[in-house]
Amino acid sequence: MAKSKTVFVCNECGYESGKWLGKCPACNSWNSFYEQKIVETKNNSLLQSDGKVATPQSLNSYEAKETIRTNTGFQELDRVLGGGLVKGSLVLLGGEPGIGKSTLILQICDKINGDGKVLYVSGEESAEQIKLRADRLGINNEDILFLGETNIELVNQAIINVNPKLVIIDSIQTMYSEEITAAAGSVSQVREITSQVMRVCKSKGITTIIIGHVTKERKHRRTKSFRAHGRYCPIFRGRKIFFL
Ligand SMILES: Nc1ncnc2c1ncn2[C@@H]1O[C@H](COP(=O)(O)OP(=O)(O)OP(=O)(O)O)[C@@H](O)[C@H]1O
Ligand SMILES: [Mg+2]
Ligand SMILES: [Zn+2]
Repeated sequence: MAKSKTVFVCNECGYESGKWLGKCPACNSWNSFYEQKIVETKNNSLLQSDGKVATPQSLNSYEAKETIRTNTGFQELDRVLGGGLVKGSLVLLGGEPGIGKSTLILQICDKINGDGKVLYVSGEESAEQIKLRADRLGINNEDILFLGETNIELVNQAIINVNPKLVIIDSIQTMYSEEITAAAGSVSQVREITSQVMRVCKSKGITTIIIGHVTKERKHRRTKSFRAHGRYCPIFRGRKIFFL
């Protein structure tokens, strides 16, 4: 029988506690705890669900390959990223609302090197709004596919079906997973969605850029949960856009 356990998670910083707390000891927020059920699955065997076994191999038996990096079409951005986008990597592009994230990303979608499609997933804007922006920027690129969706399970399915060279998620705060009861944009949703997308894209070698809003008062708390997934790189073009 599947056993379920309850934890209480702070919606602001992700702090976990065995019991409900009125005030978070980590970030001092009030009334930020909500209940989260952890279901322990019955399958406790050492075998993976599809019957495969994870077998470690000698490090020496691997051949070191040069990391494949793709030019984004922006020299400065390539420099910030350490020489371009690494194939299969996940990059977070953060910045305050209205700073120009979606505009920059659309330009990257157009200019990025290599064969294959780009999948632009937006939970913020309609296809018409993005098309309008593309027209304004003079972007007319058959390889850019648009998906207006906020359900991350459906998004992941689309990623697998299309198998693009690049996926854009605009923005992480608008996406939700059916697995988590907390509201879209909460720390636990952001965490779950990031790790789901990362799992899909890493296993398929698909490069991913996730856009995240950074609001002034929540800057530090929110970036903390993003930071768990990578390195924080500051400032692009003097704008407060950061990459990680
Ligand atoms: N490099 C730029 N120089 C001048 N204006 C820009 C630049 N990039 C974007 N803008 C303008 O800034 C406004 C906001 O841009 P955009 O929608 O890309 O920002 P955003 O960060 O995605 O905003 P949101 O947080 O609402 O999603 C738009 O009117 C856009 O035309
Ligand atoms: Mg935007
Ligand atoms: Zn907290």
